Amino acid sequence: MNHFLDIHKTEPADLRRIIDQAGAMKNARIGLPKATLDAEQPLAGHMVALIFEKPSTRTRVSFDVGVRQMGGETMVLSGADMQLGHGETIADTARVLSRYVDLIMIRTFDETVLLEMAEYADVPVINGLTDRTHPCQIMADVMTFEEHRGPIKGKKVVWCGDGNNVCASFLHAAAQFQFDLTFTGPRQLDPEDEFMGLARKAGSRINIERDPDKAVEGADLVIADTWVSMHDSQSTKERRHNMLRPYQVNEALMRQAKPDALFMHCLPAHREEEVTSAVMDGPQSVIFDEAENRLHAQKAIMRHCLGR
Ligand code: CP
Ligand code: NVA
Repeated sequence: MNHFLDIHKTEPADLRRIIDQAGAMKNARIGLPKATLDAEQPLAGHMVALIFEKPSTRTRVSFDVGVRQMGGETMVLSGADMQLGHGETIADTARVLSRYVDLIMIRTFDETVLLEMAEYADVPVINGLTDRTHPCQIMADVMTFEEHRGPIKGKKVVWCGDGNNVCASFLHAAAQFQFDLTFTGPRQLDPEDEFMGLARKAGSRINIERDPDKAVEGADLVIADTWVSMHDSQSTKERRHNMLRPYQVNEALMRQAKPDALFMHCLPAHREEEVTSAVMDGPQSVIFDEAENRLHAQKAIMRHCLGR
């Protein structure tokens, strides 16, 4: 079964094929209205369930549009409206959904929900974000980097702020695409040792540098994400903001990176918190290309999952 659960669980050759196919499918659609069907219809006759236990703008819309462009149909389900949250086991939900749909994308809290869904479903399951990782986002980000700057292999990527779920998938990508990653943020919010170890074992240089100015020296890519993720309690907001404020990405910080460094943020962003508007809207920012590439990357991920 070709699930897409995490970047480190997918073979590097498959990841590369997904990025290449995403680029080809994107080029084939230049200038077309968004609901125009692709010339190829690999999802014709296919039904895709999109399950959201957390809010979403990009993931929801990009998966929905992507499925339709490839000839399939979608059903968007909110966790709250399903029996999932009311006592039916994940395993039984997975078995039932497999009788109705050909592919399941799920955004959830605890990673075990995703893993159990994948274990018991008879159809491929895609990770649309958990508390721990966000692989679809990073596939779009690698695609975006390479569109602008060529191969990401050997490049220096700097993550600023919270060592969260998006950071974790960047560490997985560092291992599989062979780039180096420096984390700069407070000790309390370091990425998981397991994920850093995995990338180091694969030969990537993974560093922690508490001084953000030093961290971004020589960076090819600087990344920020929200200081309070959907799984973080709002009661920790003030404490997190106080810890993370020194790691804001602003023009002064970007000046310490390479002159042609790119800036990325998976969005949604909090302007003047983790990043200033001057950087978000500045010439080094590729944030809306990243958002667009969610669509193309996920279309290729779905084709990979369905063997089409
Ligand atoms: N970046 C991302 O996953 O955005 P959404 O939460 O809007 O889906
Ligand atoms: N780290 C963020 C990413 C949102 C797409 C969160 O989990 O809320």
